[in-house]
Amino acid sequence: MTKLAKVRPPMSKPPTTTRTYRVAVIPGDGTGPEVIREGRKVLEAAASLEGFRLTWQPYDVGGERYLKTKEILPDTVLNDLRQVQAIYLGAIGHPDVAPGILERGLLLRLRVELDQYINLRPVKLYPGVATPLKDKGPDDIDFVVVRENTEGLYVGVGGFSRKGTADEVALQTSVNTRKGVERCVRYAFECTRKRNRRKKLTLCGKTNVLTYAHDLWQRVFNDVAKAYPDVTTDYTHVDACCMWMVKNPEWFDVIVTDNMFGDIITDLGAMIQGGMGIAAGGNLNPEGTSMFEPIGGSAPKYTGKNVINPLAAICAGGMMLDHLGESRAAQRIEQAVIQVIPKLKSLAAGKMGYSTTEVGDLVVKHLSDKRHATSDK
Ligand code: IPM
Ligand code: MN
Repeated sequence: MTKLAKVRPPMSKPPTTTRTYRVAVIPGDGTGPEVIREGRKVLEAAASLEGFRLTWQPYDVGGERYLKTKEILPDTVLNDLRQVQAIYLGAIGHPDVAPGILERGLLLRLRVELDQYINLRPVKLYPGVATPLKDKGPDDIDFVVVRENTEGLYVGVGGFSRKGTADEVALQTSVNTRKGVERCVRYAFECTRKRNRRKKLTLCGKTNVLTYAHDLWQRVFNDVAKAYPDVTTDYTHVDACCMWMVKNPEWFDVIVTDNMFGDIITDLGAMIQGGMGIAAGGNLNPEGTSMFEPIGGSAPKYTGKNVINPLAAICAGGMMLDHLGESRAAQRIEQAVIQVIPKLKSLAAGKMGYSTTEVGDLVVKHLSDKRHATSDK
């Protein structure tokens, strides 16, 4: 027997292995790297407080790499991304790259290749955040949009005929498969049940005009609803949905909708919750690799100035930890963000009264506030 074995009692507790998550990071373009830097700082601090580890694998895909090498999403990168437990994305979009190239070739391609069929976008007004909606507060604005993320008008089915002539025809077809609609609707019902708030799921469509595509959505919605008798169902046309989101946002708990309508109504949602400085989202493949991002763009105007608001990226990071099963760390982050918000003059870039770095530091400082630690289960 070795000396070491002698001093160790035979029944000593085996060393516990630290929970470790492998996360790919795509800081991307514009202000993406600045907000991701702060997000990582906050997530690292939350991880050490909750006793788990994050390992980061950075990837430089984005506008700069495209301009240098013409590569958008090399297969080697895509294959790596399939292996990680989550992806943390800053922003995609470069002023010197024509619109559509990076969006389609990188962001939309990732969503489709990784089959991230849900785009989850919480619309939550935190206390002290200014909303443009008169007489509405945090109790009124707290819902989630479940946006279908791989089908609809985003598939890219269509084409031109007689392009450039007076007789030109352009077609763009919305692709809606029963399987694709059903998995999205089912996720939305599960999400409504899990949220356990008003237990109300609203289908947002346009059944009066899109009499094929949204007829399918409506039928699938009604079918799936049978398995969720505890969830109240509702329907709104997308135009009316925009109206109610402004007039009576408190009516919503969870909204499920197709890719295009989801894109549009979540920008409206971002505005009523205080703007792009705070709006976060997740591209989810509940059975695979999910990707988390602040939903604002790359903000070229503010790039490199250390004035962009990192809270949206920090909140997206919180969603990522929640998705990885680290809900206590996610709660810490949300609570810290809630503490920091009242200190900022505004959530808008350049008007916060603090730099990007300082806002990240403030969130880190509040992660260890006593009352959060005790409020955890
Ligand atoms: C979003 C964005 C993207 C979308 C663009 C950049 C392709 O607007 O994530 O909402 O339309 O989905
Ligand atoms: Mn959008």
